Amino acid sequence: MTSVDPFGRTDTLDEGMLAALVTRFEVRGKHPQFVNMLDEYLDAMTLDAADSVLDMGCGTGLAARAIARRADFSGHVVGVDLSPYLVEAAQRLAQEEGVAERTSFRTGDVSCLDVADGAFDAVVAHTLLSHVDDAAGVIQEVARLLKPGGRVGIFDGDYASLTFGHADPVLGQANDEALIGAVVTNARVMRQMPRLLQAAGLELVTSFAYVLAEVGKADFWASAIEAYRRLIPKAGTMTVDEADAWGAALHRDSERGVFFGSSNYYAYVARRR
Ligand SMILES: C[S@@+](CC[C@H](N)C(=O)[O-])C[C@H]1O[C@@H](n2cnc3c(N)ncnc32)[C@H](O)[C@@H]1O
Repeated sequence: MTSVDPFGRTDTLDEGMLAALVTRFEVRGKHPQFVNMLDEYLDAMTLDAADSVLDMGCGTGLAARAIARRADFSGHVVGVDLSPYLVEAAQRLAQEEGVAERTSFRTGDVSCLDVADGAFDAVVAHTLLSHVDDAAGVIQEVARLLKPGGRVGIFDGDYASLTFGHADPVLGQANDEALIGAVVTNARVMRQMPRLLQAAGLELVTSFAYVLAEVGKADFWASAIEAYRRLIPKAGTMTVDEADAWGAALHRDSERGVFFGSSNYYAYVARRR
């Protein structure tokens, strides 16, 4: 079944929406808890031994730039994304942050990359797998692209746990379901990951679990709500007016100090035998 998830079809979004996504990816990526989650799994990937790294579904190149900046890394990172607009943004940001020589970005579909077997020492998929139609197929592709002994880092939200507080819990649950149905394709993919890795012949090295919860005031979730408010109507699970009212109510909750927003996140590091 083809998904309605706009993150899985960024090559069809209009420029206004894509500009909003650039802002969202960069704000999210600079949040201290997001920085910490990325650093923690990159540390477990032994990138000091990697000459060539692939950032799958790179968006604005957040993970690629973080790898290129690492003191233990002296190789090259290639970022691939569906959206030419995001690839251009990734190139510009790499230039601005002084890592253009260590990175390159191009458009492509990560489920079928025109790249030789074993081309990469390491692969990262940072908040990608919940948005692809065939997560098992993408993991098989990761195994094909990795050299023997190479490592993959897979990080994503466990979006089945994404929830916001509401004065009426029944309406709150309906809103959560409308949101999750709109902005992710595989809300439970991180719960399937141990099986998907094993099926692809990848050996689990370590995993990390996090709760990104904000209570009282929204910070991380405030910019997420702004992006989601614009994305949900594109998927059709709320009208524009309904999504605006949903977002406004959550911002009001934050102003009044009664906000609740939370999702679990997981990272897996695995190696090709
Ligand atoms: C939620 S965003 C994450 C972007 C970036 N990795 C980050 O964490 O900031 C998911 C990204 O995956 C890309 N994407 C989704 N499906 C893809 C596919 N089949 N091939 C390549 N990129 C894809 C989207 O264009 C989008 O940029």
